[in-house]
Amino acid sequence: MGKIWKCAALFLAAALAVGAVSQQQTAKGAERGVVLKIGKKTYTKKTFQMTKGTKAALTVKAKNMGGKKKVTYVSSKPKVVSVSKKGTIRARKEGTAKIRVAVKAGKKKASSWVKIKVVKKAKASVFNFKKKTVRLNSGYDMPLNGLGTYSLEGDVCVTSVSEALKRGVRLIDTAYMYDNEREVGKAIRESGIPRSEIFVTTKLYPSQYGNPQKAIDAALKRLDVGYIDLLLLHHPGKNDVKAYKAMEKAVRQGKVRSIGLSNWYVEELEEFLPQVSVTPAVVQNEIHPYYQENDVIPYIQKLGIVVEGWYPFGGRGYTEELLSDQTITKIAKAHGRSAAQVILRWNLQKGVVVIPGSSNPDHIQENTEIYDFKLSPKEMRRINALDRGEKHDWY
Ligand SMILES: NC(=O)c1ccc[n+]([C@@H]2O[C@H](COP(=O)([O-])OP(=O)(O)OC[C@H]3O[C@@H](n4cnc5c(N)ncnc54)[C@H](OP(=O)(O)O)[C@@H]3O)[C@@H](O)[C@H]2O)c1
Repeated sequence: MGKIWKCAALFLAAALAVGAVSQQQTAKGAERGVVLKIGKKTYTKKTFQMTKGTKAALTVKAKNMGGKKKVTYVSSKPKVVSVSKKGTIRARKEGTAKIRVAVKAGKKKASSWVKIKVVKKAKASVFNFKKKTVRLNSGYDMPLNGLGTYSLEGDVCVTSVSEALKRGVRLIDTAYMYDNEREVGKAIRESGIPRSEIFVTTKLYPSQYGNPQKAIDAALKRLDVGYIDLLLLHHPGKNDVKAYKAMEKAVRQGKVRSIGLSNWYVEELEEFLPQVSVTPAVVQNEIHPYYQENDVIPYIQKLGIVVEGWYPFGGRGYTEELLSDQTITKIAKAHGRSAAQVILRWNLQKGVVVIPGSSNPDHIQENTEIYDFKLSPKEMRRINALDRGEKHDWY
């Protein structure tokens, strides 16, 4: 974010109605005209997030105001965000401040404001390959590899999770939408493994965002494993900020340990983050060699958020093509590994947590054996070159 902001220009379009307009009306009209330009993209919103220690250029575009313009800037909290006479804003301290911009040209006046949320510079999370975990910004450790349970139903789900737990897998990924939280919980309870050693992720679906408190309690009941390690919003949707705030509360209540998002990309994060208090611990997005998100991953990681990839093998219906890709199979052969293992290892070396889905115990086992070989920088580059921006699901 810092770098983006350095080159960002903030356009406060102070929309001035022609004729005599009261000060109050002017301010209201101007608010609606606030335009943020980051790089080539333009957004309209009220609150912007900056990282402590970064600066940004704030420039004013005042429509219908001919003649020589005088622009003045005032910060509500200069210790949090200061602003120079030329409109350079500096994020100095964590907190929130408003910058008011006033434009005067002859007798014409217009004003607007922008709210800036300053967050501390995040440390990118480091994968601990010895412990096979990563420390989240919430303070909890999350395993680097898990079992995805999308499309695993009934007894197949119970057996798959049991087999995974027997084979040392300690991260299980489910969701309200998968309709198998009960089965995941059952397998966990019956495993005999201490609850504290298992990491359970589930997700709220957009249809639940209107009544998130109820949805969280229902998930806890279905899982019946005491608490949820990681709760994600499955997709952006109506009331997502409301739902996230309910998740923040659930953390304070001890019902949930860490919270995060799924299917949020750069623009969505820029819009969403200024509106919430707790930085997500994890963002889970589609990532595989044919859809790599090479611009999104570092952006998220720089915010101190761990990236987790779904559809590591391209998802059902696409796995055959990906697992027989010549580049990948050649690399796999050179290491005496399977293509699946190479893909999972490639993810780990990019700092991406993996949750391959499987109901086959041999595959589940194979998918855990990814810590005793390493891809060279050249091999990583060769897989990176396979990217074709080919998304295998709509979200
Ligand atoms: N947040 C989201 O929006 C979202 C969306 C989709 C998925 N997800 C999560 O991500 C997880 C992973 O995605 P996914 O399960 O749909 O797709 P995936 O992991 O890309 O692929 C699963 C397929 O790969 C096969 N497979 C697994 N290991 C294999 C191996 N070692 N060798 C050969 N084939 C192997 C499985 O068949 P077998 O059963 O025969 O092993 C299954 O057909 C999901 O389960 C879910 O938890 C999240």
